[in-house]
Amino acid sequence: MKIRKLHSREEAPSDLLLLADPSQELIRDYLKRGECFVAEVNHEKIGVYILLPTRPCTIELVNIAVAENDQGKGIGKQLVIDAMNRAKKKGYKTIEVGTSNSSINQLALYQKCGFRITGIDKDFFIRHYHKAIVENEIQAMDMIRLSKDL
Ligand code: COA
Repeated sequence: MKIRKLHSREEAPSDLLLLADPSQELIRDYLKRGECFVAEVNHEKIGVYILLPTRPCTIELVNIAVAENDQGKGIGKQLVIDAMNRAKKKGYKTIEVGTSNSSINQLALYQKCGFRITGIDKDFFIRHYHKAIVENEIQAMDMIRLSKDL
């Protein structure tokens, strides 16, 4: 598997990006403001993430996703580690990520990669999404904010 930056004229893998965020509008905004990276096996895109600069020394990992057939094989963890390494090389001091109160596996993944919970953006998913999002039989309501020093 190779993880590389998406070329500027290359089309972003929207099927993968939509797995992480149902909002096309937010995805377009992230792609405009951030850098998109893809994981490929035999030229097939199986993973994606975007690094979004937010403050002078802080970057946010957004829209990380692995193709459904390839989930649970350690690729997500490799993408998070790759994002942390690239952010550190670029000189960022802190990497942040946000996920839903209902995203139990994602909360496990980020904490296994060394992220610590820093706060809660209460009602984020109620404010930003028209339709209710339910995962693990839990409604997505609050965004759990996590961060890691690089
Ligand atoms: N059940 C329980 N925990 C799971 C799991 C499952 N089916 N799949 C992943 N995890 C957790 C485990 O804690 C695992 O750690 P371990 O390997 O030590 O057991 C950790 O996640 C990493 O697993 P990994 O195989 O690297 O994850 P992945 O390749 O499936 O990628 C996502 C993780 C979240 C990127 C992927 O599932 C995905 O694309 N989901 C849909 C999009 C999404 O929700 N993006 C995140 C938005 S915040």
